[in-house]
Amino acid sequence: MRILGLETSCDDTGVALFDSDRGLLAHRLYSQVDLHAAYGGVVPELASRDHIRKALPLLKLVMDEAATGPEQMGGVAYTAGPGLAGALLVGAAIGRSLALAWNVPAIGIHHMEGHLLSPMLESDAPGFPFTALLVSGGHTLLAAVRGVGEYDILGESLDDAVGEAFDKTAKLLGLGYPGGPAIARVAERGRPGRFHFPRPMTDRPGLDFSFSGLKTAVAHAAGSTSDALTISDIAHAFQEAAVDTLVIKCRRALEQTGHERLVAAGGVSANRLLRARLADMARAAGARVYYPRPEFCTDNGAMIAYAGWLRLRAGRTEPLAFGARPRWRIEELEKP
Ligand code: KG4
Ligand code: ZN
Repeated sequence: MRILGLETSCDDTGVALFDSDRGLLAHRLYSQVDLHAAYGGVVPELASRDHIRKALPLLKLVMDEAATGPEQMGGVAYTAGPGLAGALLVGAAIGRSLALAWNVPAIGIHHMEGHLLSPMLESDAPGFPFTALLVSGGHTLLAAVRGVGEYDILGESLDDAVGEAFDKTAKLLGLGYPGGPAIARVAERGRPGRFHFPRPMTDRPGLDFSFSGLKTAVAHAAGSTSDALTISDIAHAFQEAAVDTLVIKCRRALEQTGHERLVAAGGVSANRLLRARLADMARAAGARVYYPRPEFCTDNGAMIAYAGWLRLRAGRTEPLAFGARPRWRIEELEKP
């Protein structure tokens, strides 16, 4: 069965074709980063318009590359939420229309379920059950995963998502958007020890996170400095604090679940320091960490096509009427 995957929840247009026998056949991504950079963050209306411009040309490229015609399509999966309402509606409208024209089923996918299942696209895929750390621009959560659609939330951010903390800190330090890669790059030049920021909520039990205080601490330390070395030192200390906090909570989560597998996914899981520290922690805990390949850590169509296949193969279909769910909690999902 061949499934088309469409991702348009935020500022990336992702299109991919997944084949249940042959795996991923083709995938393309158009990032709107340059469009939004001038504004220091995503402008929702501009994002929607750019998805409209880019989705169909990308679809044509992907279908040509995979030498796939409409008659070979088995289904369409699109991101139905959470995300920006207008951006989501573009993907939903295109996905539903294609499915209607091709006479195949369509299914709306939860964006974070896409991230959560993305390491299973790799040849060395984790089996169930596992503990998942989902870290993106909109979410920071830890979940115990028993199977597709069987997610128990262990902890989540009470305020800013960790990706959001990276983005806001980068903006504060004048490092541009998106903040995660910018902070990571500048932090490499930073000198350890000059600044120290708190590891929020690690001094008490529980697996929830809070990142807004960290941002405030950075603002306090930075003042109005424009000294490049000081900014690097602050970026270094911020990254250390954010990564440390995530790793401490992951260790606790593994202790709590008894799982030997930890999945890390979402944009922030591309962070190299986080990957190195999680690997050290897992080794000491007798566990293993699984990631999607770096290009699938951030938003992409492949994870949506894959999650779509897992749900469509179980016979899940939906009525023709469609909408978007800008807010949608992952534990509301059911088994397919
Ligand atoms: O998953 P994603 O592409 O989109 C959402 O679903 O939000 O995640 C985007 C987030 C942004 O906040 C970005 O700054 C962060 O992931 N990010 C990183 C890195 N690459 C992307 N954060 C830290 N280090 C990185 N290397
Ligand atoms: Zn995402």
